Amino acid sequence: MAHKIAPSLLSANFLNLQADIEMIDNSEADWFHCDVMDGTFVPNISFGFPIIKQISKIAKKPLDVHLMIVNPDKYINEVKDAGAYMMNVHYEACTHLHRTVSAIHDAGMKAGVTLNPHTPVSLLEDILQDVDMVLLMSVNPGFGGQRFIEHTLTKVARLKEMILKRNLHTLIEVDGGVNLETGKLLVDAGADVLVAGNAVFADPDPTEMIHKLKSLA
Ligand code: DX5
Ligand code: ZN
Repeated sequence: MAHKIAPSLLSANFLNLQADIEMIDNSEADWFHCDVMDGTFVPNISFGFPIIKQISKIAKKPLDVHLMIVNPDKYINEVKDAGAYMMNVHYEACTHLHRTVSAIHDAGMKAGVTLNPHTPVSLLEDILQDVDMVLLMSVNPGFGGQRFIEHTLTKVARLKEMILKRNLHTLIEVDGGVNLETGKLLVDAGADVLVAGNAVFADPDPTEMIHKLKSLA
C-alpha cells in the first residue's frame, strides 16, 4: 500500500488558511494533520476546536487530529464534533489508555496513540491490537521546523515487526522533521503516513513538494 501524506497545518498561513486548505485538497495529500497544543503538555499553544471545525467545513480529505494536551479524554466529543476522522492522544498523557481508546471508538473515530521520542514502542505490547494507528514523534512535540531524531528509524522498524508478527493492520505515522531525505528513510523502514509541516509550507511550490513526498518509493 502506498504511504499517505498528511501536511501539518501548523506551518500553514493562518492569515489565509482557506487558500492552504484548498491547495491540500487539490494536491496528492491524503489527510490534513491538525496540531492542538495546550501550553502544559507541550511548551506552546496552537489552535483548538473552533478552528478545526471551520477547517472541516471546507476540507475534502480526512482530518488527522494530534492532541498535545493533558487529559485528552475530556475532549473526545469536542474532537468528534469538530469533524475529526482520527484522534491521536499521547501515551504519556493517558493514565487509562485502554479506556480512552475505547471511548474514541465509541464516539465513531479512529484511535491513534502517540509516543514521544523517549517512549519505547515495547510499551504498546498490550494495546497495539486495539488501536488504528501509532504516531511516532520524531521531534520533541511543540514546534514545527525541528530536526529529525534519527533513532526514530529504529523505532519504526521495531514497531513494524510487532505489527506484522501479530497480523495487525495498524498504521505507523511519523511526525517531525520529515523532508524528502528523512521521508525516504522512513518509508523504507515501514512508515505508512508521513506528516510534513515545514517541508511542505516553506517550499516555494507546496503542491509539488507533496507530490515528491508522495512519490518516495
Ligand atoms: C510538532 C507537531 C508537528 C509539526 C511538524 O509538535 O506535532 O505536526 O507541525 O512540523 P515539521 O514537519 O515542520 O517538523
Ligand atoms: Zn503533529
